[in-house]
Amino acid sequence: MARRSNRTALILFLVALIIITGSFLVILAINLFKGENDKGSVNPAVLGYELKIPQILEDLNPDLNVAEYVLEAKEGESQFIEGLMTNTSGYNGSYLGPVLKLRKGEKVSITLKNSLNVSTTIHWHGLIVDGEDDGGPNQGINPGESWTPEFVVDQNAATLWYHPHLMGETADQVYQGLSGLIFIEDEVSDKLNIPHDYGVNDIPLIVQDRNFNSDGSFDYQVSMMDPVPGNVMLVNGTISPYLNVKEGIVRFRILNASNSENFEFRLSNGENFYQIASDGGLLSAPVKQRRLFLAPSERAEILVDFRASKEPLSLLANGIEVLSFNLEEMKTDYGVIPETLAVIEDIPLGSSPNERNFVMQSMGINGTINGKYFDMNRIDETVKLGETEIWTISNVGGMMQTSAGHPFHVHGTQFQILSRDGQKPSLAESGFKDTVFVRAGEEVKIKVRFTHKGVYMYHCHILEHEDNGMMGQFIVE
Ligand code: C2O
Ligand code: CU
Ligand code: CU
Repeated sequence: MARRSNRTALILFLVALIIITGSFLVILAINLFKGENDKGSVNPAVLGYELKIPQILEDLNPDLNVAEYVLEAKEGESQFIEGLMTNTSGYNGSYLGPVLKLRKGEKVSITLKNSLNVSTTIHWHGLIVDGEDDGGPNQGINPGESWTPEFVVDQNAATLWYHPHLMGETADQVYQGLSGLIFIEDEVSDKLNIPHDYGVNDIPLIVQDRNFNSDGSFDYQVSMMDPVPGNVMLVNGTISPYLNVKEGIVRFRILNASNSENFEFRLSNGENFYQIASDGGLLSAPVKQRRLFLAPSERAEILVDFRASKEPLSLLANGIEVLSFNLEEMKTDYGVIPETLAVIEDIPLGSSPNERNFVMQSMGINGTINGKYFDMNRIDETVKLGETEIWTISNVGGMMQTSAGHPFHVHGTQFQILSRDGQKPSLAESGFKDTVFVRAGEEVKIKVRFTHKGVYMYHCHILEHEDNGMMGQFIVE
């Protein structure tokens, strides 16, 4: 009896051993197989590269009040990962583009030469110019051709950006690398005691998520439901970047240049920083905060006081390290956080402003505004020049909606938020904006006025939603 149960136990033990070993081998085989096919298997996080700083584009006109810039969109190759090349596109380079530094009141001409193999447009996001100079989907530039809009800079100091806007192709072209920053400066920003030394204590951060194949190529995937979030973060086209900074106060101009991802930034030590600007320029006073939320296309300028931190410090986006800092000792000249920044002149509201509603609804990757898909041959709204209106933007959610919300963007203006679900906007959202994030079920009211004429766009700035119809057209006359 005892011997028999001993034998049974032995058999059971052997069977169990075979099952365990067998399943281990199967799992191992699956993983090996997956490893070869898993396109997102590149893990460059172990490497560290010095943060790239985009160049400031040279103004070709010696006249101080006139600026002349030339940009060329072209295809190229970039090295993000040691030993691997990635096919990309860029302006005057292989990825991203130079900074266009403009001054309020200055007369500007910018030529875009399209050396891509495909049509493109170049849109000045946040810039207040005539519709015909705006670079929206109506201003397509064929391969080999050029486009030269001219305008006078008619707005306050701000950090804006530029990117393609060709109907149906925007998401793809931006993913390939076509984006760059625009800085506007004015007397107010000149005189402010905030860091101005570009690349030293005034640092641009263009933040993007990307997916890579194991051969180094971009793996841009969009399902019926959603764009696929990247597993690698790029800052100014740099993977796992570090930045050498002095221990004083440093200004960062952050742009969420991702196609579809929202980012919540914070410092790894949990310390506060100070937001000094939103999309359209300086706030009235620095806003002390621990977190900064930016939806696609939103910008913020922040001041970080590095004196407080004696430990290794980095900037996190959604909990992931996107930039680490190497602090260099500094004995004097730390800088200060100013008490006040700029005087915000409220957009004047008449006694009975015209009101409009914009209802966003999405269905997987598609979406509508007021129940309509974009149609280049249809003008959806006609707006009177110079008259302030109240726009109510709501997000009614939608079928199979997986995105947390829609960043609603309006061309040709900088608006002010009146309320978010009936509540006054936060201090950080009390400045000028050109994009406002509207969560599912939320209703946002904005005060908007147009000072230039022409045809413009409003749309969701999740680029895949925009390309799939979540956009409308209005004319200002
Ligand atoms: Cu960033 Cu229609 O624009
Ligand atoms: Cu825009
Ligand atoms: Cu959207």
